[in-house]
Amino acid sequence: MAYTLEYIKALGKERTPENLDKLLRIFRENLNLPIDIKREVVSSIGRQNDNDKIYSFLTREAFNKANHMELIYQMFRTCLYKSREDKKFHELGLRIKNFYHNEIIDKMHDYYIYRQSGHESTSDQRIAEPLLLVGDSRETLKQLPDNSIQLIFTSPPYYNAREYSDYNSYSEYLSRMKEILISCRRVLEEGRFIIINVSPVITKRPGREFESIRYPIHFDFHRILTEAGFYFIDEIIWIKPEPSVPDRVSGYRQTRKPLSYKPNCITESIMIYRSECNFLLDRNMKEYKSYDKHDGEEIDSSNCWYIAPKSDKNHPAVFPEELCRRILKYYSFEGDSVLDPFAGSGTLGRVARRMGRIPVLCEINDKYAEIIESEALGYYDVRGRDNKKYSQQITIGL
Ligand SMILES: C[S@@+](CC[C@H](N)C(=O)[O-])C[C@H]1O[C@@H](n2cnc3c(N)ncnc32)[C@H](O)[C@@H]1O
Repeated sequence: MAYTLEYIKALGKERTPENLDKLLRIFRENLNLPIDIKREVVSSIGRQNDNDKIYSFLTREAFNKANHMELIYQMFRTCLYKSREDKKFHELGLRIKNFYHNEIIDKMHDYYIYRQSGHESTSDQRIAEPLLLVGDSRETLKQLPDNSIQLIFTSPPYYNAREYSDYNSYSEYLSRMKEILISCRRVLEEGRFIIINVSPVITKRPGREFESIRYPIHFDFHRILTEAGFYFIDEIIWIKPEPSVPDRVSGYRQTRKPLSYKPNCITESIMIYRSECNFLLDRNMKEYKSYDKHDGEEIDSSNCWYIAPKSDKNHPAVFPEELCRRILKYYSFEGDSVLDPFAGSGTLGRVARRMGRIPVLCEINDKYAEIIESEALGYYDVRGRDNKKYSQQITIGL
């Protein structure tokens, strides 16, 4: 007989001892059933009433490595839900968890525990007004409360590529970045996004006889982001017009000599990560009763965004405002606090204010901080320079 999903679901819905036996037989006798049907069989078995029979099915099948992991997840799910009424399922669930050491099972377990605990809100405190923190983000971020930021968007200093970068080695650079990401994790509301704009950088050759080194910063950022407690969601590729980037292909164009090919790099990576948490994004969205739908605006349907870069007389590497606008539109709500821990000339803050978000900007370089200050006079409450005054005021401001 060819079983269908509908047929299995109907069996599962009507919780009779006969149906449970039928489901167990279907599982036992049809080893080659398509995986989605088999998954439904396991899920339907889990919905039945005879806990002893279900328990003996699970103890037999959950440790059978011939079973597809999708089936094991269903079996584990049954343990989670049955553990409310019957303790032996709790113990079996823990055995399955320890047996597989699998990240999806771990996450299912954490989700379940979180839901049982009945948490109410994802945000501890909200920041009420724009802030500019002047100094090293490794220090200044300490002054922000836990869970107080709803979005982080930044472009970190590119290792030794620009005037403001100064590190002894690439590993020192990465460890400093990681320190800041760990603070970002603490201040970012659970389940919200951190978005990092990076691209590979090249360091100057110390002499003609040496090779220049190209650093794939985005690959290493993946590692430090995950170590800091974020997980990968998406990558958006920012594509620039070719004439706007340095020409690397001209040598090859002249000689056509294999191995000398170096394409013009017209892309940058926009890395979208979410802070680790035990609930779905729906829960973050539920915090907002109403929101701006941006009706009539075009939607960027692919992960390739064509945006011209921006140059600025005051800063060597500014965001184009359009990039900030899209990130703010897709990843934050009005009224949210948005943090840029490497604010530069403060482009994110400017666009954020226009879009009704509350910017929190950190910048180490006094010259750039002054630009932000001068532009945003009357909006920002600049307190970073006097730490004592700042720490007193921030409590009032929140
Ligand atoms: C790529 S730029 C950001 C430019 C910015 N997106 C804009 O639109 O102007 C990085 C900035 O990070 C700042 N910076 C570097 N290390 C820092 C640190 N430890 N704490 C705070 N700011 C830092 C640099 O001074 C630089 O202005």
